[in-house]
Amino acid sequence: MKVLHTIAELREFRKTAGRVVFVPTMGNLHEGHLSLIQLAKQHGDAVIVSIFVNRLQFGQGEDFERYPRTLRDDCAKLESVGTAAVFAPDENELYPHPQHYCIEPPSIANELCGAFRPGHFRGVTTVVTKLFNIVQPDVAIFGKKDYQQYFVLRDMVLDLNMPITIIGAETGRADDGLALSSRNGYLSSEQRGEAPRIYRNLQRIRDAIGNGSRNYDELALQSVSELREHGWDVDYVEVRDAETLGRPSTASTHLVLLAAARVGATRLIDNLEVQL
Ligand code: PAF
Repeated sequence: MKVLHTIAELREFRKTAGRVVFVPTMGNLHEGHLSLIQLAKQHGDAVIVSIFVNRLQFGQGEDFERYPRTLRDDCAKLESVGTAAVFAPDENELYPHPQHYCIEPPSIANELCGAFRPGHFRGVTTVVTKLFNIVQPDVAIFGKKDYQQYFVLRDMVLDLNMPITIIGAETGRADDGLALSSRNGYLSSEQRGEAPRIYRNLQRIRDAIGNGSRNYDELALQSVSELREHGWDVDYVEVRDAETLGRPSTASTHLVLLAAARVGATRLIDNLEVQL
């Protein structure tokens, strides 16, 4: 496995890599990421993984500084699952000067997580576009745990005619249902015990919908109350149309239940798709 730090090295590697499947990450890799690599291997000749903690997508007071940088461990894990190359640029390589041009996502990026993290998705679309321009992948894989991110990036690729197939990978979960996330490492053991409540709430909403309930706002409110009763600081629980990410209509047949809430200081997000 090659570990490449510069754009020039990456471009040289790309010349002979064949059909490239790209998995962008911020590192601190866990089983969920490794399952993305396994999926990626089925779609091309070479899997390239980027590891870059992107300052542009973090707001003031968020965890940019303390986000774990674990390149050596990450590379060992990536090598063990057959990654062809890791692209790990430093900040100066990707942002040699403050970024002048940004990709402005549409207004859906100001809802859900975007309402609580202003500018977050603009930072994501901008860095992913830069990475796409550098790596020039045929296929790119994004975890559906970040459903809104997956949605925005898929939409961006269509809207800007980028010749890249976007694949959404199912969310990896611990035995108790907690979605795998690099931020789970911030949880104390007590918080870790509490954390699966967010998924249990989504399952409860899914079951109620399965039993015929269509009062989505009421179902979401019940979950907000339940989480708050257990000490969570809730940003949102919402039922959306999975195809548009807008509010569901009576014609919606594919829903996504989304939640973001803090247990202690750690913000967790999760979602669950429901076919009607
Ligand atoms: O999901 C992530 O890890 C990041 O948002 C991404 C897509 C690598 C962009 O920095």
